Amino acid sequence: MLILGIETSCDETAVAVVRDGRVVLSDLVASQEHLHEKYGGVVPEIACRAHLETIVPLIDTALEKAGVELGQIDAVAVTNQPGLIGALLIGLTAAKTLAWIRDIPLIPIDHLAAHIYACNLSSEGVDYPAVGLVASGGHTSLLLCKSETDFEFLGGTLDDASGEAFDKVAKLLGLGYSGGPIIDRLARDGDRNAIPFPRTFLGKDSFDFSFSGLKTAVLYHCCGQNAKNQVITRRMSKRELADICASFQEAVVDVLVGKVVAAAERFRVTSVATGGGVIANSRLRERLETECRAKGLRLYMPERRFCTDNAAMVAGLAYHEFLKGGDFRDLRIDAFPSGSAYG
Ligand code: KG4
Ligand code: ZN
Repeated sequence: MLILGIETSCDETAVAVVRDGRVVLSDLVASQEHLHEKYGGVVPEIACRAHLETIVPLIDTALEKAGVELGQIDAVAVTNQPGLIGALLIGLTAAKTLAWIRDIPLIPIDHLAAHIYACNLSSEGVDYPAVGLVASGGHTSLLLCKSETDFEFLGGTLDDASGEAFDKVAKLLGLGYSGGPIIDRLARDGDRNAIPFPRTFLGKDSFDFSFSGLKTAVLYHCCGQNAKNQVITRRMSKRELADICASFQEAVVDVLVGKVVAAAERFRVTSVATGGGVIANSRLRERLETECRAKGLRLYMPERRFCTDNAAMVAGLAYHEFLKGGDFRDLRIDAFPSGSAYG
């Protein structure tokens, strides 16, 4: 079964063609990072305009790269929640149009479920049940995944998401956007034990997350308690900057890894499936690998290109949603900006 997937929930326009949930025939991502960089974050109006300009040519190129005609596509899948409402609507409208003119099923997809599904694109397939960790720019969620399509929400972020913490700390350090990859790179030359930033676990049994205190701790460490305007203006040596990045990153990693392992133990599952932009982080990948190995857990991490937003994960998950069944002929489907059941 050939599914064309569309993803426009935030600042990436993405289209992919995937066969039977697994075989990625094409996977295109048009990043808008350069458009948002100077604002230090995603500007919804700019994101929407860029999606509008990009989506149709990207669909054409994705079909061409996959070596298939539109007439061979069996179903269209699209992220309809959660995300920026205008951005979601552009992808959804494009998907509805294709489904309507071709009279094929339209499969709505939850972005967070798709992030976890991405593990299945890079491996033989996740052995369920698994504890799922979605760590992205908008969400940090722990899930109990019973299959590709059946999840239970265990906990999520109470304030900033983990990726948001990376982005905000990078911004206050004057490093630019998007913060995660920049901090990841700078941290390589730093001492992760240099500064004891706080780890917020919210109690022994909690599967929720909080990262906003960590961001404030970085600000106070650099400027003292009277820091103004959430920006650090004093000059820093390369060494000091690297130490701050490495110590901050280690605090985030400690919490993410600690909670995943605790959830696997509590729910007695032996698989861990991860997804979302933060899972591209080198130190997090390294720590997940060592801790999961030590606890006898099977770890699934998507390839880096499938961690950040992409449409292969959308088309892949849609195959399993389709097999599960449902009414995929309904073109009245809406977009839900904060509609996910998973965070
Ligand atoms: O999943 P994603 O592409 O979009 C959302 O669904 O939000 O995640 C984007 C987030 C951004 O906050 C970005 O800073 C973070 O993922 N990110 C990283 C890395 N690469 C992307 N965070 C830490 N280390 C990285 N290497
Ligand atoms: Zn995402």
